[in-house]
Amino acid sequence: MHWDAEGYRKNQQFVAKYGTALLEDVPECDAILDVGCGTGVLTKQLCRKATFVRGIDQSAAMVRVAKSQFPNLDITVGDILQYHDAHRYDVVFSNAVFHWISRRQQGQLLAKVHQLLKQQGLLVAEFGGAYNIDQIYQAFVSVLKTYAIKSKLHFYFPDPRTYQKLLIQQGFLIKKLNHYYRPTPLENGYHGLPSWLAQFFEADLVQLPEAQQTEIIQKTCDKLMPKLWDGTSWVADYWRLQVVAQKK
Ligand code: BEZ
Repeated sequence: MHWDAEGYRKNQQFVAKYGTALLEDVPECDAILDVGCGTGVLTKQLCRKATFVRGIDQSAAMVRVAKSQFPNLDITVGDILQYHDAHRYDVVFSNAVFHWISRRQQGQLLAKVHQLLKQQGLLVAEFGGAYNIDQIYQAFVSVLKTYAIKSKLHFYFPDPRTYQKLLIQQGFLIKKLNHYYRPTPLENGYHGLPSWLAQFFEADLVQLPEAQQTEIIQKTCDKLMPKLWDGTSWVADYWRLQVVAQKK
């Protein structure tokens, strides 16, 4: 997917804001790797917890924005699935990223995290869990149907039991596994949901003429208005899976 990094920095600030709570699960330690660090807002905050902090992100555009905001941070372009690093970390941290990795590749992801951790090191992560954005996605799919367009969910939102099994299979001891509903106000008033849909359902929309994209987004918003509009903001139906797991 193509990331509009500057748009993300301006309109999706809530992502890092909510990630701040996750920092409470990060102990003070020597070394932390921030996987999918985006524009670096949480990477910067992690520097209060460790002497060595490194961020990686697959998007070169995001890394450019991160480096311009925080020139002293150690941030590089990297795909966690292919990532090599001589360092071993006390904590691998990740906020709002794991749901971008397919079900098929989750084992590989957790094996890589396991390899990067020191003995007894911690994975501290939060991402979309079961039911995440169900209402948004169902509304979008039902509008696409009226245009005879099929859609496939491009994210992985696991239920806690499934993820628990995966973690155990990859050699982790579960310290915390919390699945919870976190209704999330989007920024930018009415434009919050249209821009969210345009950015995150880009894979389905990009192949369509621009006028049709606009129409589909508008109809999806109309359907969601009675459910997710609170009079001032759109409130996205986010469900989170919060994980703290220790390398055995
Ligand atoms: C999320 O953070 O839950 C999310 C963000 C973008 C697309 C889908 C889910």
